[in-house]
Amino acid sequence: MPREGRNPVLVAIDTPELDQAKTLSRSLAGTVGGIKLGLEFFNANGPAGVAEVAGGRGDLFLDLKYHDIPNTVAGAVRAAVRLRPMILNVHAGGGPAMMRAALKAAEDESARLGIPRPKVIGVTVLTSMDEGDLEAVGQQGPAADQVVRLARLARDCGLDGVVCSPREIEALRGACGPGFTLVVPGIRPAGAAMGDQKRVMTPREAIDAGADWLVIGRPITGAPDPAAAAREILRELA
Ligand code: C5P
Repeated sequence: MPREGRNPVLVAIDTPELDQAKTLSRSLAGTVGGIKLGLEFFNANGPAGVAEVAGGRGDLFLDLKYHDIPNTVAGAVRAAVRLRPMILNVHAGGGPAMMRAALKAAEDESARLGIPRPKVIGVTVLTSMDEGDLEAVGQQGPAADQVVRLARLARDCGLDGVVCSPREIEALRGACGPGFTLVVPGIRPAGAAMGDQKRVMTPREAIDAGADWLVIGRPITGAPDPAAAAREILRELA
């Protein structure tokens, strides 16, 4: 188990189907540390769907990766805070003014509502991008350096952490310090199908490397008994 002894597993519920998401969320309540809903679910079901699946649980990672001008991102964050997420995220590539605006909007809106402020974390370089893609959009590589550059910028803007791949954990823990939250997808329990993930770690390896949260989708949601699959992962971490 990670540092505070809490359950570090965030299950990624990637489906446009509201009923399927509700069933998964219900069957995994108490077994996982939280649920992640992203663009696929949100664009199909909107804030009302998010509230139905995650409402009142207090353990939602709302993965909508905002990237726009500061004023627009601030407005999006204020609206998102009403869904009471535990974590939400913005693209660090949106720049310092945008990240600061996102953080301030999260602070102001949660204070106004009298609820805990969600952690605001950054997305650095999408793991789908290689050196050639970075060059094509005019970003300086190597990708590993750009990840550290954007993570430091996110930290300097006051953000709580970043999403990162398993193989970035060590460099980011070193560069950004022990209090910086690292949320890590690309996790596969020993023996699980890789799907389209190429560079993976097991839950144990990722936690040992310094991850705070593990985002795990198909190894749990695609299992015949998702709760049993999640419990097996936790046993591996215990
Ligand atoms: O099913 P799987 O465990 O591969 O799901 C991982 C989740 O983490 C998905 O929601 C995916 O979009 C997300 N993710 C990822 N790699 C990244 C960033 C996010 O797999 N670099």
